[in-house]
Amino acid sequence: MDTLLRIAGLALAATLVYIAGRVVYNLYFHPLAEFPGPLLRRISRVPWSLAVLKGTAVFDAARLHNKYGPVVRVAPNELAFQDPRAWKDIMGGGVSEIPKWIGMYGVPAFLPPHVQNTTSKDHHRALRKALSPGFSDSSLRAQEPIMAKYIDLLMRRLKAKSQDGPVNIELWYRYVVFDIICDLAFGESLGCLESDGLHPWVAAMIDGAKPMGFLTALNMYPILAAVVNPILAFIAKGPMRLNTEMVKPLVERRLRAGDRSDLINPLIKLHEGQPGAGSNTDELIANATVIIGAGAETSVANLEDALSNSGRNSASILTAVTSLLIDHPEKSDKLAAEVRSAFASRDSITADAVSRLPYLVACIDETLRLFPQTGAPSLRLTDKRATIVGIPVPENTVVGIWPWALYRAAALWTDPDGFHPERFLGDPSFANDTRESFKPFFTGSRDCIGQNLALIEMRLILAHMVFSFDMKRTADSSTKGWVHKQKNLFIVWEKSPFPVELVPVV
Ligand code: HEM
Repeated sequence: MDTLLRIAGLALAATLVYIAGRVVYNLYFHPLAEFPGPLLRRISRVPWSLAVLKGTAVFDAARLHNKYGPVVRVAPNELAFQDPRAWKDIMGGGVSEIPKWIGMYGVPAFLPPHVQNTTSKDHHRALRKALSPGFSDSSLRAQEPIMAKYIDLLMRRLKAKSQDGPVNIELWYRYVVFDIICDLAFGESLGCLESDGLHPWVAAMIDGAKPMGFLTALNMYPILAAVVNPILAFIAKGPMRLNTEMVKPLVERRLRAGDRSDLINPLIKLHEGQPGAGSNTDELIANATVIIGAGAETSVANLEDALSNSGRNSASILTAVTSLLIDHPEKSDKLAAEVRSAFASRDSITADAVSRLPYLVACIDETLRLFPQTGAPSLRLTDKRATIVGIPVPENTVVGIWPWALYRAAALWTDPDGFHPERFLGDPSFANDTRESFKPFFTGSRDCIGQNLALIEMRLILAHMVFSFDMKRTADSSTKGWVHKQKNLFIVWEKSPFPVELVPVV
């Protein structure tokens, strides 16, 4: 007993000495010791993780920049940058682009990496090369009739629904973007618009993405990750099998359809090129992630998250822009005037035409600024000494730009919390804005592969909505300021419903 107590005492003493040593090292001898930041953040990563768990990480980053300046030590080995030059220095430097950090992107560890979360530059290059043709201009043109089909169905469904009272537009935007992305990828929709319901697979994906912020925070502690990841892999086996079973028929039908120009085709081809991989449906399921997988709300980790993210991003922005327009009737009127004078009928609303509507384009840009996909950074790990915004940064430093913090900085934007599409239209009141700060799809070799598709989809849907309906607030005034009330889960926004009164005008 005595011996046991002595061992326990020694272990405790050793742990305390280790912790004290770590604290002293992190504060005074760490290569980042000279960088400003709150005491607790300089000592330990725990406050960073707690902020993720509390849902305040993104907003805390903005607060820390306000207090400590454009470069802050947010964790012992991590720097946050609030400076537009950092985009190029961290993400846009070609071969010297700083690689993604496995601490953030290795989640969940039990699934194979894909285009958005792989930390291997070679693996990424191969996947991106295979996928790029599906996102080219000619592919986008070929995809327009598919989008038009579902947008038309959305309009018809909403027109009918609007007779029965307010419509939760957040849900209907999800339906339409899921139906579109599934058709673009697999050649068939999940029937969300038809059934007025989320396919169980989609619903499972949305729920499955919620703990991703928590898992990501956990994965940043190598010892904890080594213990927890195998347990998670074991626990996840059941739900993953269920998901695979739900999506398998879709993938198998797509495989039977053979060569076709859709988003999934390059992946099938890639697998065919690999000996023995051609018939591996499971692997295709995992990798299909990448195309539909909108890194959108960052760490997309598997097919479920990927699909839900691509849908969630565009759907989130559409809900956000609708809410902002309802909050600002004068801007809504301006947009309605632009859209309704540009088109004689809904049939004439095309991708080309909507991209030439300056106010509509600016409304979406301003929404992407105010409500960036989660606002979380793409954390990178310096593999050698780097220079970021003119400052030398040592090897093995985690570096990131927190978009929400960057887009709400008073030093970079005039009235940063206000909704002003005019700032993107050359209005002199916003001449001091640093427009180069704005990178909603990030930049460099890991930028969003689906950005043109996303922009076209959002512009088309918004144009059709504004052309067909007056969108008004319901009697429930709690939806006012919707954009500023959503819960941030780091990897995703947990969005509340947004009921609107739709008054058909055509
Ligand atoms: C409003 C809509 C969207 C926004 C704001 C958005 C934003 C982003 C951002 C910021 C990234 C970088 C993530 C990171 O570095 O971790 C990204 C990556 C990615 N996005 Fe999107 N996205 C959107 C829609 C889409 C759509 C519709 C698709 C596909 C159909 C898509 C596919 C992807 C893929 C595959 C990546 C990973 C690219 C790579 O690493 O090479 N995104 N997205």
